[in-house]
Amino acid sequence: MASLDDAGVYQLTDDLAIIQTIDFFTPMVDDPYTFGQIAAANALSDVYAMGGKPLTAMNVVCFPVKSLDISVLKDVLRGGLDKMREAGAILIGGHSVDDPELKYGLSVMGVVHPKRLVTNAEAKAGDKLVLTKPLGTGIICTAIKAGVADKETIAKVSDYMAALNDKASELMQEVGVHACTDITGFGLIGHAWQMSDNSRVGIEFNSASVPFLPEAEEFAKTGFCPGGLHRNREFYSKNVEFVEQVPEYVQDILFDPQTSGGLLISLTPEAAQLLLDKLLKAKVRPAAIVGEVVSGPAGKILVK
Ligand code: CO
Ligand code: CO
Ligand code: CO
Repeated sequence: MASLDDAGVYQLTDDLAIIQTIDFFTPMVDDPYTFGQIAAANALSDVYAMGGKPLTAMNVVCFPVKSLDISVLKDVLRGGLDKMREAGAILIGGHSVDDPELKYGLSVMGVVHPKRLVTNAEAKAGDKLVLTKPLGTGIICTAIKAGVADKETIAKVSDYMAALNDKASELMQEVGVHACTDITGFGLIGHAWQMSDNSRVGIEFNSASVPFLPEAEEFAKTGFCPGGLHRNREFYSKNVEFVEQVPEYVQDILFDPQTSGGLLISLTPEAAQLLLDKLLKAKVRPAAIVGEVVSGPAGKILVK
């Protein structure tokens, strides 16, 4: 099977395919244990986006042995391990190198029935789009690095980034899903564009219904926009049309690179409503229907 958006897929038998993925990055929060949780949740997410179940994981570690205490590494790894346990995945090894900058993540292997594999290439005109986590984490992490975010904001954004996409993945399979991707570095617009391009459809977002962390508004207006946000805007602008009323800070939030963001799920309107009810019951909040899939033009996004 081809290598698709979120991870590589290899079919072993008629009813078993493996999903393989790797992700690691530098800390976006100061607390090492929290960073470990977030990095693991982020790496596991690509398996969930494809409708799979993670089975095994390996640690990927870069650590500055001379400048950081080894207890920091222990806390990072403990955070990662706790997240793997929560996901029901087993740590089977890993690799570490001495590096000037701390980096951590996982290589994850998951499984899925080949007929139940979810890609970003099967969105259909008439589908609704459900988003399962609020946007704005990149902007808020930029504010954290600048030292202007308060403790509650840091705790809140950390909780969202550390949250697994397991329930959303399970529930989308339960109600029937056409396409899915997780929202990470390319932001909502970038990942939605990949879905629209691969599915040969257009996408329309209703910006007023896109959930975002309220703190992101204030920080975006003050200019705490990560470099990746500007790169996303530059790269994807040619494929996006904003109607005039969409405020500048909302556009920023839609381009904001996410760390361990939610799933963007494309499914029939009936299934979308059912999924939304189930997500809210499972406390996957603030999930919302944020837009729809239209027949064309393919690879174009309209934001109302
Ligand atoms: Co992904
Ligand atoms: Co990835
Ligand atoms: Co090795």
